[in-house]
Amino acid sequence: MDSSELVFTVLGAGVAFYYILKTVRLLKVLFPKFWYTLPGDFFTSMGEWAVITGGSDGIGKAYALELAQRGMNVVIVSRSIEKLNNAAKEIGKATGKRVKVLAVDFTKDHVCESIEKSLEDLNIGVLVNNVGMLPSPLPCKFLDMTTLEQTLNDVVNCNTKSMMQMCRIVLPGMEERGKGVILNVSSGMAAIPFPTYTLYTASKACVETFSQGLQAEYKAKGIIIQTVCPFGISTNMTGYQKPDLITYTPEDFVKTSLAYLKAGDKTFGSIAHTIMGWIIQTVPIQYFQTEKMQEQLIEFVKGRTGITT
Ligand SMILES: NC(=O)c1ccc[n+]([C@@H]2O[C@H](COP(=O)([O-])OP(=O)(O)OC[C@H]3O[C@@H](n4cnc5c(N)ncnc54)[C@H](OP(=O)(O)O)[C@@H]3O)[C@@H](O)[C@H]2O)c1
Ligand SMILES: *[C@@H]1O[C@H](CO)[C@@H](O)[C@H](O)[C@H]1NC(C)=O
Ligand SMILES: *[C@@H]1O[C@H](CO)[C@@H](O)[C@H](O)[C@H]1NC(C)=O
Repeated sequence: MDSSELVFTVLGAGVAFYYILKTVRLLKVLFPKFWYTLPGDFFTSMGEWAVITGGSDGIGKAYALELAQRGMNVVIVSRSIEKLNNAAKEIGKATGKRVKVLAVDFTKDHVCESIEKSLEDLNIGVLVNNVGMLPSPLPCKFLDMTTLEQTLNDVVNCNTKSMMQMCRIVLPGMEERGKGVILNVSSGMAAIPFPTYTLYTASKACVETFSQGLQAEYKAKGIIIQTVCPFGISTNMTGYQKPDLITYTPEDFVKTSLAYLKAGDKTFGSIAHTIMGWIIQTVPIQYFQTEKMQEQLIEFVKGRTGITT
């Protein structure tokens, strides 16, 4: 065999190997239950209680219901006490598990002392950092946001600081017991800098970087930390869009995404959103950042959500 033949053989083998790896990755996304099996008692084996921030509505409420169905007692933390009590009643009735409620506004400073006190004596196996807000109902440029100064503070407190504080409160118990699961809900859009959602995606990118670093620090302690990055979920935040091929109901999304719990420190949580994530990360970033795309996006969201201002 002369040397050019050898080069081509090695090159060919390399390319084939690369595509085999890609195929395996695709198969794992398509059949998560086969690759990442969780025993039926997995969540209860992590601890007695699950804490879910933003747990009275949307994705958070779906997490609370699903984890209660899998045998955990749940603490739901969010703003409105009426919404909390309604959700608690519903979850308790459907599952027979205990539901505690904590009324807290995460946009405010110094809310964590009261949370810390309330959670003191609980054996917490699962923390879902889900609470989050959009700076404005429709996408817009940074300076076009109303009450920008206040909004900045609220978004960073609610989307970023809340998650770090909750980790500070819950992680020591998990470290001591040598087990636990922390899920941080980010957003698929945070995969790239996303004009007209700049503040939102930046606050979520912080969640991801924090989570991934933390996972590396505490993996050896038996703690699973994962960032979940959905795109469209039909909730109040997104104007209750009609569920379709790429828009999930919160309940369906939570069920599917928990199947990816052992799929690494970041997951899009479903097949459709994984494909969208690949597209967003593959298409040259400039395409999403043209002035024209930004205008079209604002019109698109207006049309899809029915929100006009
Ligand atoms: N929906 C989507 O398409 C989508 C996509 C990607 C990522 N996400 C992320 O998923 C998470 C949940 O969103 P969602 O769509 O389920 O929203 P949602 O239906 O509007 O629910 C938000 C939950 O958080 C609570 N909450 C909101 N602001 C709060 C505050 N300042 N303090 C305490 N609790 C607060 C709400 O309760 P109260 O009303 O009582 O405060 C509610 O329980 C967010 O982090 C969001 O960024 C959503
Ligand atoms: C989730 O947030 C907590 C608290 O900020 C952090 O410690 C953890 O690493 C994050 N996990 C993921 C997967 O992002
Ligand atoms: C839905 O969101 C709007 C705007 O953020 C808010 O004013 C309203 O109270 C929310 N509805 C419920 C049921 O939480």
